[in-house]
Formats: sequence, structure tokens, C-alpha cells
Amino acid sequence: MSTDTKGGAPVDAHSGTVTTGHEWDGIRELNTPLPRWWLYTFYACIVWAIGYWVVYPAWPLLSGYTHGVAGWQSRNAVVEDIAALKALRAPMNDKIAKASLSEIEKTPELLSFARAQGSAAFAINCAPCHGSGGQGAYGYPNLNADRWIWGGTLEEIKTTITHGARSADDPATHLSAMPGFGRDGLLDAKQISNVADYVRTLSGGKPEAGADLAAGKKLFADNCSACHGPEGKGNKDVGAPNLTTSVWLYGPAKADIVKRVNVGGGGVMPAWGAKLDEGTIKSLTVFVHSLGGGQ
Ligand code: HEC
Ligand code: HEC
Repeated sequence: MSTDTKGGAPVDAHSGTVTTGHEWDGIRELNTPLPRWWLYTFYACIVWAIGYWVVYPAWPLLSGYTHGVAGWQSRNAVVEDIAALKALRAPMNDKIAKASLSEIEKTPELLSFARAQGSAAFAINCAPCHGSGGQGAYGYPNLNADRWIWGGTLEEIKTTITHGARSADDPATHLSAMPGFGRDGLLDAKQISNVADYVRTLSGGKPEAGADLAAGKKLFADNCSACHGPEGKGNKDVGAPNLTTSVWLYGPAKADIVKRVNVGGGGVMPAWGAKLDEGTIKSLTVFVHSLGGGQ
């Protein structure tokens, strides 16, 4: 226990520091003041925080929050950023909207902008169905392959993107459907098996043992060639795929082909004409055309 005092407060004999007077089992609490610079910084932070609460959105309330006198909102900041980006792109997008597709392909400056913009728009709008690289999936066509259901010229691709296929909300959409030969009793199981075996041979596939290819060929000529062509090379006017390549919408296995002949139908591609502006559609067209090598 120290008996020294400084200004009336007890002083610790060992360190010479004033104590608070609190003592527990002989352990006394020193009263070491905070450094001034620290204290003033701390006060400055408090003042700054109060100012911040007043100026910016800060405190949650039961319904809503304190808005702050400056009217700042993170959403406005995003809206401004997007508007600035659009303004930056607008002159080029305008040029693309006004140029013809072949002009865009011939002008390197327009082409590189269109491909970049098309690639970005593809990632947002198209990748969920066609895959991030346009590689397709079951029922969604591979856009990298030079095998086009609805045609692979610039104009044809643009038409498909603008109006879609079997899209309920666009009267100019591509329309057609493969009949459900099995479901509607047009062909029996044996006939379907034979025609499926024959279809497999068109792309170099092996028919099953015991397949009657001559019967399959005849069935194909009678039932399928009107849409898929006499040699099975497809017909873009009715969206009937080429059956002689290694690229398939629904798979090359015999079971896949049998299923298609049984149920028929056709996939739905949305129409984008009402959702995207002309410059974006043309950019997408040029981008998709570059994927598949065009035609
Ligand atoms: C909801 C899924 C879906 C989305 C999203 C979608 N597509 Fe498609 N697309 C399809 C389907 C299904 C087909 C095949 C239609 C058919 O079977 O006739 C198709 C066909 C196409 C074709 C024709 C391919 C050919 O071989 O002729 C092009 C080109 C195309 N899509 C481009 C796009 C672009 C560009 C976008 C984005 C703006 C897009 N698609 C978004 C489902 C989609
Ligand atoms: C009225 C026209 C039409 C007729 C007739 C027709 N098809 Fe099709 N076929 C189509 C269309 C359109 C598609 C594309 C379906 C889609 O886009 O989803 C198709 C798709 C297919 C496919 C799937 C191709 C793939 O890439 O996966 C096979 C296989 C096929 N047809 C076989 C046949 C056979 C075999 C016959 C005869 C028994 C036949 N089709 C008759 C229009 C027709």
C-alpha cells in the first residue's frame, strides 16, 4: 500500500503513476491516461460519424431507413453508371443498327465492336439455352456447328433471332412440327424401328442386326423425305434438320431417333425482336454467324 499522493490521488510507488484508488487483494489499478493524439482522433471519429448519419442513409427504422439529407442512393449510382456506359456505346450501336449486315462484316471497326457486343448479349440472353460457348444441349441446337436448322446466312440467322421458332408471341415466327408417327398411329413399332435404323446409316451409324434397311429406306421416302429431303439433308424452309451429319438436336442413338419418330414436335426458340434493340440483334447475328462459320 502506497502512502504517496499526487494532487490528492494515491501514487504507485513502483511506477510513480497515479492510481485510481481501486485495489483488489493488493493489486492496484494504475490510472494511465490515453495519449492525446489518440483521444482527439477518437473524438473526431465521433463527430464524423454523426455528420455521416445526417448526410447519408444510415439507420434502419421499423419501416425503411433514415435517407440522409444528401439524397444519395446506391441504386442511383448504378443507374448513372449504366446510363454512362450506354452513352459511350450509343454512337457505335447506332452505326451498327443503320449498317447492313454485310457492311458490318466488311468494316473491321464495326465488326469487332459487333462481335464484342454480341458476345456480351449472348452470355446474358442466350447462354442459358445454347450454352456459354454456343455448344448447345439436348433439344437446344449447337451454334458452333455449320449445320443450320433454319439456315446459316446472316439474313437467315437474323430472322431466327428476331422472330424465334414456334414462339407464341410473334406471328412471323418459324412454324413447323414433326408429326408424331408412333403416337398418332401413322407407323407401327416395327416400321419405326426400320426407318430409325435407316436414318442412322445416313450419318454413318451402324444399324441393328436384323434391320430391314430396304424397308426403312422406302418408309423414309414415303414419310420423311417431304420435310427432311430425299437424301435426308434437311430443309431449312420447314426447319427439318439435316440427318446426315454428326450433329444432333436430340442425340444419334437409335432410341433417340425412335423417340423422335414416336412423338414428333419441335423446340421453342423465343423471339427477341421486341426485347432487344436493332443494334444488339445485328451484333448477336454477326457473333452467332462467326461461331458456326456461316454458310
Ligand atoms: C429458351 C431457350 C432459348 C433461348 C433463351 C434462346 N434460344 Fe435460340 N433456340 C432455342 C431452340 C429450342 C432452338 C431450336 C428451334 C428448333 O428446334 O427449330 C433455337 C434455335 C436458334 C437458332 C437457329 C439455329 C439453327 O440451326 O438454325 C439460332 C441462330 C438461335 N437459336 C440463336 C439464339 C440467340 C442469339 C439467342 C439469344 C438472344 C437465343 N437463341 C436464345 C432455344 C433458345
Ligand atoms: C412435316 C415435316 C416432317 C416430317 C414429315 C418428318 N420430320 Fe423429322 N423433323 C421435322 C422437324 C421440324 C424436326 C425438328 C424438331 C425440332 O426442331 O425440335 C425434325 C426432327 C427430326 C429428328 C431429330 C433430329 C435431331 O437433330 O435430333 C429426327 C431423327 C427426325 N426428324 C426423323 C424423321 C423421320 C425418320 C421421319 C419420317 C418417319 C420424319 N422425321 C418426318 C420435320 C419433319
